[in-house]
Amino acid sequence: MEHRLREMAEAARRALREATNLDELEQARARYLGRSGILRDIQQGIRDLAKELRPQFGRLINETRAELEALLEARRKELEAGQSRLRAAESAIDVTLPGRAQHIAGRHPLLATLDDMLEIFLGLGYTIAEGPEVENNYYGFEALNYPPDHPAMDEQMTFYIADDVLLRSQTSTVQIRVMETQEPPVRVVVPGRCFRRDTLDATHSHTFYQLEGLCVDEGITMADLKGTLLAFARGMFGEEARVRFRPDFFPFTEPSAEFAVSCFACSGEGCRVCKGTGWIELGGSGMVDPNVLAGVGYDTERYTGFAFGVGVERFAMNRYGIPDMRLLYSGDMRMLRQF
Ligand code: DAH
Repeated sequence: MEHRLREMAEAARRALREATNLDELEQARARYLGRSGILRDIQQGIRDLAKELRPQFGRLINETRAELEALLEARRKELEAGQSRLRAAESAIDVTLPGRAQHIAGRHPLLATLDDMLEIFLGLGYTIAEGPEVENNYYGFEALNYPPDHPAMDEQMTFYIADDVLLRSQTSTVQIRVMETQEPPVRVVVPGRCFRRDTLDATHSHTFYQLEGLCVDEGITMADLKGTLLAFARGMFGEEARVRFRPDFFPFTEPSAEFAVSCFACSGEGCRVCKGTGWIELGGSGMVDPNVLAGVGYDTERYTGFAFGVGVERFAMNRYGIPDMRLLYSGDMRMLRQF
């Protein structure tokens, strides 16, 4: 029996020492020192020994158990230390690896276009004004000289939130807010979001940006309007750019004109960008209707003014060759990375 104990002890020492990880160590522990392990089995054999031999053998078993448990603990510590060293090595930074390229954010094409537009007007002595996106009928239509029930209001395809609460369909509303709070001379540009009940497709959006301009002073004429828009077109498209005016109608201007710029891609020859016409339509404009000036309390004998409004999306799409308006709102990095 003593022989069996010694053999077992030798095998156990070897197994503990040779365990290469904590799992193997645990297996060795269970096999030799566990509740139904071999040592326990040998211990049970004490019952079969002569009475006088039992104490001595019991002591031998206890010594063996103590020795093996000490060995087990020592080996466990060793393996644990090794494991955490391994983990540290795994998570260490490999300074020889090449770095990952970071994408540096660029300006969004829509806001880049708007910024460039504003820059030109700031250079002409304009200041920037802003106004609310949610308006009432007075600012939305009445103050802009829309007669009650005039069909031009339908053209605006306005979103109504309640009877007298609407989302502005044009930045022209801000003309009124600016003039209410300041006396001429007025020279402002108004960038802002507008909303219309339009279905989203390649060239339409229910939410879009406009840039509005307003200039009111003594002696302002249509020639000032043309000169200003020519300076704007040249600032955006280069010194070769020409502008064209054609009669139009807006309730808040009289006379009114739509304006276009000679195509920057073909200089007016006709191409894919301008759909063969040689011109790119930019927006509406005109001389501020005296009714509008009177409505805000301006002296219409003394002051005249011009106003204009351009869509920013169309501009950005032409400028960067973006074929679909929805790309501007998609947040798609494959598109945005190009800017
Ligand atoms: N608000 C007009 C639109 O959205 C554009 C416009 C036309 C603005 C004439 C003006 C203007 O300031 O004078 O279609």
